[in-house]
Amino acid sequence: MTFVQRAVARLWRLGLRLKFVLFQRHRHDRQVREEIGGLSIQILPGVFNPTLFRVTPVFLEWLTEGLVPAGSRVLDVGTGSGVLAIAAASAGALVVAVDSNPAAVDCARINAGTNGVDDRVEIRLGDLFEPVTGEKFDLVLCNPPYFPGQPTTPLETAFRAGDFGRRFARDLGDHLAESGRALVVLSSLGDEPAFLTAFADAGLEVEILRRRNLVSEIATLFEVYSPSDGSRSR
Ligand SMILES: C[S@@+](CC[C@H](N)C(=O)[O-])C[C@H]1O[C@@H](n2cnc3c(N)ncnc32)[C@H](O)[C@@H]1O
Repeated sequence: MTFVQRAVARLWRLGLRLKFVLFQRHRHDRQVREEIGGLSIQILPGVFNPTLFRVTPVFLEWLTEGLVPAGSRVLDVGTGSGVLAIAAASAGALVVAVDSNPAAVDCARINAGTNGVDDRVEIRLGDLFEPVTGEKFDLVLCNPPYFPGQPTTPLETAFRAGDFGRRFARDLGDHLAESGRALVVLSSLGDEPAFLTAFADAGLEVEILRRRNLVSEIATLFEVYSPSDGSRSR
């Protein structure tokens, strides 16, 4: 990334923060009903609202393009309102979804129920892979907190990465089944290099699967897998 690109990203982040504080924070303070990717969902107070950011809708769209094989075992790390987990279950997967925010767990359970997939989505409370100790998955989905910095409030854990990327990368390999892979979405406004360094440090292979220019930011879907695995499916 050049100096100019870094400066532009910093300015966009500042603008986004201002927009969030002025116009969007209240939509995280009370219960709201939202529509996204053909799903009708409720957002409980303190839970990441996926309609206020541009990356989740794009990730949802990509997931409907055959990236989730029917019958696959899927883990959604940092499920928030549960939208990615619900989309994967709707594609025929068996899903475990994890979030460290108790309000997100309640929210995702409600949304899995109202969208008719609660028989295929199990939602668990906990930190990263701790709730799935000893379990392996064909596909791990993650729209992580990707802005740099340490979270200082529960809601900020949805945005500020802290050491999320390093710990996610360190433990991912233990939870991938044979030929398993992770699909991780990142934004050019976030700290992409820190995540990519964490994957490399953990000895993981990374390929770009999809990329979308959203004008104010670029969303990229990375496929992450252990190098011992053979060819990937697209
Ligand atoms: C950017 S939001 C994404 C939510 C949802 N997957 C989506 O795409 O709309 C990140 C989510 O990760 C959760 N999270 C942050 N740190 C976590 C951790 N250490 N373990 C589990 N979940 C975490 C947050 O609570 C938040 O719900």
